[in-house]
Amino acid sequence: MRVLVTGGAGYIGSHTLVELLADGHEALVVDNLSNGFQEALNRAKQLSNKHFGFIDCDIRDAVSLGKAFAAFKPDAVLHFAGLKAVGESVEKPLAYYDNNVGGTLSLLRAMDAHGCQRIVFSSSATVYGTPHYLPLDEAHPLEPVNPYGQTKLMVETMLRDWAGDGRKACALRYFNPVGAHESGRMGEDPRGIPNNLMPYVAQVAIGRRDALNVFGNDYDTRDGTGERDYIHITDLAHAHLASLRALDDLADFEALNIGTGAGTTVKELVDAYAQAAGREIKCYYVGPRAGDVASTIACPKQAQAKLDWTARLNIDDASRASWHWQSQNPEGYGE
Ligand code: NAD
Ligand code: WQD
Repeated sequence: MRVLVTGGAGYIGSHTLVELLADGHEALVVDNLSNGFQEALNRAKQLSNKHFGFIDCDIRDAVSLGKAFAAFKPDAVLHFAGLKAVGESVEKPLAYYDNNVGGTLSLLRAMDAHGCQRIVFSSSATVYGTPHYLPLDEAHPLEPVNPYGQTKLMVETMLRDWAGDGRKACALRYFNPVGAHESGRMGEDPRGIPNNLMPYVAQVAIGRRDALNVFGNDYDTRDGTGERDYIHITDLAHAHLASLRALDDLADFEALNIGTGAGTTVKELVDAYAQAAGREIKCYYVGPRAGDVASTIACPKQAQAKLDWTARLNIDDASRASWHWQSQNPEGYGE
């Protein structure tokens, strides 16, 4: 397939790009580099040893996007582009509605104008809000608790309405993506202080930060720390390939959980990382972070059945891969 990849210079997009090229697809990346890296694209090219196009543009720029569609004539879109920081979305909600909802609207208009009828969208487990039960299945109520989550739900709603008449949309609800490419050449490189746990732990391990603040140790979990379903970035990338393959046989709109079905606590992740790095991870136990819940765990059965996909890697694999990347690239992509 000819696949247009929005946000392909970002963390999940760049890793998926490499797997996409390895699977024999052609790709055109559209990214405004607001949170992505030219160097990630350079390395994707080296790792895949394949050519792909790159257009530095914002998906809300209808003219440039239209030119990209006209020139590349994609069969499908993998749509990663968007803003993703929960806290920032509370401070700047309109920026999130503009980028995530407005950006997707612009993208769907371009797809319609150019007869492109297949899209796989980066949704998030955050659409469920506070769990009523675990594991979270796709029938769980959709009650996002912050503007970021609202934008993901609004895009899902838009896709549901857009799909039909030959148009196919699949929203992948990622749980907690972690890890890095097995080569150690690509990984996660957050700008500023990492919001997410594994990149923070990685920066403690490499000595860029003194210690991890563990947010809460009195939750109703095995050891009192928060429990999440961490999905290895390589498994996540493969879920996108599986979605592209399955799309024509799926319902017009599908929303599927992408997780492992197993939980790991903060303490367990820190232990796995310390083992992988062969270093101690200093921790301070502080109060819970506002908006956090004790546990989120995916029920991935629908994705397994409908995509013929299953997660194969675990938290030890992800910790080793992340450390491989962080230790070889202490300053990330260095941009
Ligand atoms: P990322 O920030 O690394 O990648 C997003 C990419 O999109 C960046 O390269 C950025 O430059 C680009 N971008 C943003 N707005 C754009 C615009 N208007 N036009 C063109 N390019 C634009 O984030 P990621 O972790 O790779 O996440 C990818 C997608 O997956 C996002 O939609 C995110 O909401 C979703 N998601 C991420 C997680 C996670 O924990 N990382 C979890 C669930 C869902
Ligand atoms: C994991 C656990 C924290 C940092 C977020 C978004 C979600 C999705 C994935 C995009 C929790 C604890 C964390 C730290 C800590 N993103 N923690 N110290 O909150 O499950 O999900 O990223 O869609 O929408 O909300 O992930 O990695 O931030 O936290 O103790 O410095 O680690 O309390 O228990 P979260 P996370």
